[in-house]
Amino acid sequence: MTDALVVPPPTSPTRGERALAWREVDLDAVRHNVRLLASASAPAELMVVVKADAYSHGAPQVARAALEAGATHLGVAILEEAFALRRAGIESRLFAWLAAPRAPYAEAIGLDIEVAAYSGAQLAEIAAAARAMRVPAQVHLKAETGMWRGGAADEWPALVALAHRYEQEGLVRVVGVWSHLACADEVDHPATDEQRDSFLRAVEVAEAAGLRPRLRHLANSAATLTRPDLRFDLVRCGLAAYGVNPLVGQPAPVDLRQAMTVRARVTHVKDAPAGAGVSYGHTYRTSAATRLALVPVGYADGLPVLAGGGGTVGVAGASAAIAGRVCMDQFVVDLGDLPVAPGDRVTLLGPGHDGEPTAEQWSAVSGRSRYETLTALGRDRLPPVYVGERAAT
Ligand SMILES: Cc1ncc(COP(=O)(O)O)c(C=O)c1O
Repeated sequence: MTDALVVPPPTSPTRGERALAWREVDLDAVRHNVRLLASASAPAELMVVVKADAYSHGAPQVARAALEAGATHLGVAILEEAFALRRAGIESRLFAWLAAPRAPYAEAIGLDIEVAAYSGAQLAEIAAAARAMRVPAQVHLKAETGMWRGGAADEWPALVALAHRYEQEGLVRVVGVWSHLACADEVDHPATDEQRDSFLRAVEVAEAAGLRPRLRHLANSAATLTRPDLRFDLVRCGLAAYGVNPLVGQPAPVDLRQAMTVRARVTHVKDAPAGAGVSYGHTYRTSAATRLALVPVGYADGLPVLAGGGGTVGVAGASAAIAGRVCMDQFVVDLGDLPVAPGDRVTLLGPGHDGEPTAEQWSAVSGRSRYETLTALGRDRLPPVYVGERAAT
């Protein structure tokens, strides 16, 4: 008989000798940003958007930090994200805005989750679930105002009339009327004023139909920080809560702190001659004799392949160039004469304290949006480590 193979027990890949790469999430930075947003938007209430696992920061952890710092609501895209937050013990007001026909509305109603209706057919489904549950559904009606994504366009008058009828039957409570801005990141973009006017008309139509929605909401992070006239009763902030500037071409008007840092350990260092072609396609050649470090993170972990075209990392307290294409699991850094050895820490992205680029700078280099830069990082091989986590009360 042969001996059984001995497989090591699962350990945290973020700790000790085994650490390869990880996401460090600073919950104190989240609290700081949320406090700024709450005071900037008051008296409007603040919904912190924690969809996509809180833009890869960890939804339950960010949700708790945001609520501690003054958020009154949480927002997610899909119902499953809302269910997961309830399973994690989050009891706050919680809004999920994206569902397909035959969505589990009864479960949502049972868990006190607020849902969105974009059409009469969707509202009828929600009302049917409420009837079965004998509990009114809390609904936010979404109006098309010029983004042409979700929301009722020509159907809006019929949708609000139906909602009013369901309210009178005790099946629905219209808690919100809302829409979403397409171009608020470009301050002074004319589409934003057009959307505001269209939104105000939609609210008027809803009120004329007899609805009295307590929460009119339109603003994302960019509008929250630049357009006081668009804050209405509630703002929905994602990017700024994570400390990333939501504005294009200008700095954020408040002192945001980036919460996400991605780090890894160097696995290998070697000398290379001048003219060495590095990585797939030889898109990078060393300009002089140098030292190269191998970093065990790649596009399978969410890094953009093209970060090699001008991207940098923080290592040994300085900034060093990514040499050539990012591969699936690894990339190369041109160290020059920086004193780096296997096992040393490299910072790929963060607030900039260790010579690393910010999320905004990564985006500029890779051609990805800041949202994409963050959400792409939510992979198993980059497990999260929390800074500033407090015991759940
Ligand atoms: C409907 C909705 N509201 C609010 C937000 C938050 O936007 P931001 O991250 O720009 O604040 C998003 C994010 O995309 C969204 O889809």
